Amino acid sequence: LKQALFRNPNEPPLVFHWFPFIGSTITYGMDPPRFFKENRAKYGDVFTFILLGKKTTVCLGTQGNEFILNGKIRDVCAEEIYTVLTTPVFGKDVVYDCPNSKLMEQKKFMKVALTTEAFRSYVPIIADEVTTYFKKSPDFKGQSGTVNIPPKLAQITIFTASHALQGKEIRDKFDESLADLYHDLDMGFSPVNFMLHWAPLPWNKRRDHAQRTVAKIYMDTIKARRERGETGSQDIMYHLMNSTYKNGVPVPDHEVAHMMIALLMAGQHSSSSTSSWIMLRLASRPDIMEELYEEQVRSLGADLPPLTYEDLAKLPLNQAIVKETLRLHAPIHSIMRAVKSPMPVPGTKYVIPTSHVLLSAPGVSATDPQYFPNPEVWDPHRWEPDSPNAPSLVRNEQDEEKIDYGYGLVSKGASSPYLPFGAGRHRCIGEQFANVQLQTIVAMIVRMFKFRNVDGSDKVIGTDYASLFSRPLEPAIIYWEKRDRA
Ligand code: HEM
Repeated sequence: LKQALFRNPNEPPLVFHWFPFIGSTITYGMDPPRFFKENRAKYGDVFTFILLGKKTTVCLGTQGNEFILNGKIRDVCAEEIYTVLTTPVFGKDVVYDCPNSKLMEQKKFMKVALTTEAFRSYVPIIADEVTTYFKKSPDFKGQSGTVNIPPKLAQITIFTASHALQGKEIRDKFDESLADLYHDLDMGFSPVNFMLHWAPLPWNKRRDHAQRTVAKIYMDTIKARRERGETGSQDIMYHLMNSTYKNGVPVPDHEVAHMMIALLMAGQHSSSSTSSWIMLRLASRPDIMEELYEEQVRSLGADLPPLTYEDLAKLPLNQAIVKETLRLHAPIHSIMRAVKSPMPVPGTKYVIPTSHVLLSAPGVSATDPQYFPNPEVWDPHRWEPDSPNAPSLVRNEQDEEKIDYGYGLVSKGASSPYLPFGAGRHRCIGEQFANVQLQTIVAMIVRMFKFRNVDGSDKVIGTDYASLFSRPLEPAIIYWEKRDRA
């Protein structure tokens, strides 16, 4: 009653809770999408809940996506939220440990390195890593078996990303110490660290040691590459080593090293969660896995020649698998911003005060029946124009307009219901890489294997929301069988 009576009418409704500091932390944390949907039904698109003592205002729907993700820099701020978590992991002077204008330049360096020529060189690297992985892995000896699939995809993701983006020298170090060090860095990303990032706890000590060691490995590699006088390489590290800020200062080596950590961490969780979901979805629909195989035979030839970048465009179902999996399993369920000046919410009487945090959840509009018929059904064919489940993506005219925040042109509007890569100033620069990486991994696995659920059913495992990026609950065991040609 107190919560209802003392409510400021200019603030959004507050989600009912019993305990002051805890508020809705537990119900939100257990299943954020369900929490959003249940409260949307009660309170509408805009509501506030208490997350560890902080008033957190959620803005849902396409207008909510636009309001937060396209917020002006004087109104919203990402670094204020994320820096406590990311700076100890990535290191100083990059991403959220620098002014936003510097992040925009850093994103530009990364984006311009990802040219068509670079992608062309990445596909054979990724395809090779996948083939070698399965040939060597003791878990895939013999003709058939069962396996907990997510850890395998986590390894494949890091091997392929490090090789393509950071070069062979760094990739080879993942067979030695780098894998364990990245694991220690990862622990810095656990949600409790939003509060305990500073504490001298065992996992934070390991995080700090890992950060120093990994940064040194990168800096030594940069030094060696410079001394060799290397030219013409296609990895991002090489590109950053030779980039200069607008003020004429070359990117210092420690910043290159820290950006390398940031890049691998940003891509790792999102891509490995997505590839795990793809494999689990395929195991639940072996018929679609067969369709994927037939698509390759039909489009590339029965002998399935080595995969190229150009081939990916000839495989629309292979592309749709990634797109549809990201619709239902976007790994980033909550995007947060600090509020820097009071923000009136268009079309409402609400003004969000600077004491609140804003939370955007584009996954909610991506599963809204208003745009996606039968939204809970994983149907890669819905992305074909004549499918009964085809989305009605109401497009704002603005979406067609482009804007440059400093890292290349992106859509001006953020009001599409489908935004797994975010929108606006902080939009993902890894989208194209992730697509190339995921499509290549899927195409190669489809060439080698048939998957199904162990009990032959079409069931799909639940989602683990315990870390910052959502992923399948484990163990997520599937049955695999090699194709004759594998
Ligand atoms: C930003 C999703 C892969 C690098 C973002 C954002 C999302 C996202 C939603 C916006 C975050 C925000 O607004 O706060 C994804 C998904 C991926 C993926 C779903 C894969 C399936 C990658 C990869 C890289 C990468 C492979 C690196 C090569 C970045 C960077 C940002 C970003 C640098 C910018 C952060 C900022 O400006 O604040 N990503 N990402 N991502 N992502 Fe990705």
